[in-house]
Amino acid sequence: MNPSTPEYWQKVYLNEPRPGWDMDGPSPVLAELLEAAAALNISLGGAIAVPGCGFGHDAAELARRGFRVAAFDFASPAIEGARTRYGDSVDWRLEDWFTTKEGPYDSIFDHTCFVAMDPERREVYLEECANRLKPSGLWLAVLFDDTKGRPGPPFQMPMAEARGLASGRFEVLHLQRAVQSHPRRAGREFLVIGQKK
Ligand SMILES: C[S@@+](CC[C@H](N)C(=O)[O-])C[C@H]1O[C@@H](n2cnc3c(N)ncnc32)[C@H](O)[C@@H]1O
Repeated sequence: MNPSTPEYWQKVYLNEPRPGWDMDGPSPVLAELLEAAAALNISLGGAIAVPGCGFGHDAAELARRGFRVAAFDFASPAIEGARTRYGDSVDWRLEDWFTTKEGPYDSIFDHTCFVAMDPERREVYLEECANRLKPSGLWLAVLFDDTKGRPGPPFQMPMAEARGLASGRFEVLHLQRAVQSHPRRAGREFLVIGQKK
């Protein structure tokens, strides 16, 4: 099956009520990315989009921190699970990120959406992220450069390749290995902050 389709992901959710990637809470590196942005003295603005939100933990944490959050997933079990867990704290949207007409946003927070894409779609994905950002908007992402040899998704991406891809649409302000990763992911994640060109 093809991970570019909602059917692929729906099947994963139906087979695994708690999928392997789900952390039952926000990723610890969300706070690390926000700290990195603050250290660079850049504001994330008020309106944030979370593509491929899954059960919505990161989106709800951003809402708890005061952002206006729209979170997208094209798999209905994900959006239903997010709404059940977090109610209306977020604007949950059952939509394909590639075709939504929503936005533009001040920032995008991407945690295991970009890396879950068919690698063939990476460039188009980044283009769509840039299209959904306001001028100088920020793309914040958590990526993997080691998937323990598993075929994917998620698909691994060397840091140098991420820089090259992101540079087409964004000025890369931050690209560093994560230090606050969940123990299951220690040493395998890196963080990117790009500013729309
Ligand atoms: C690996 S899961 C990660 C979920 C969540 N970010 C997390 O870390 O818990 C990837 C999610 O992206 C969603 N997704 C993949 N492609 C998408 C697209 N084009 N539009 C919206 N959602 C998408 C899938 O349905 C799935 O819920």
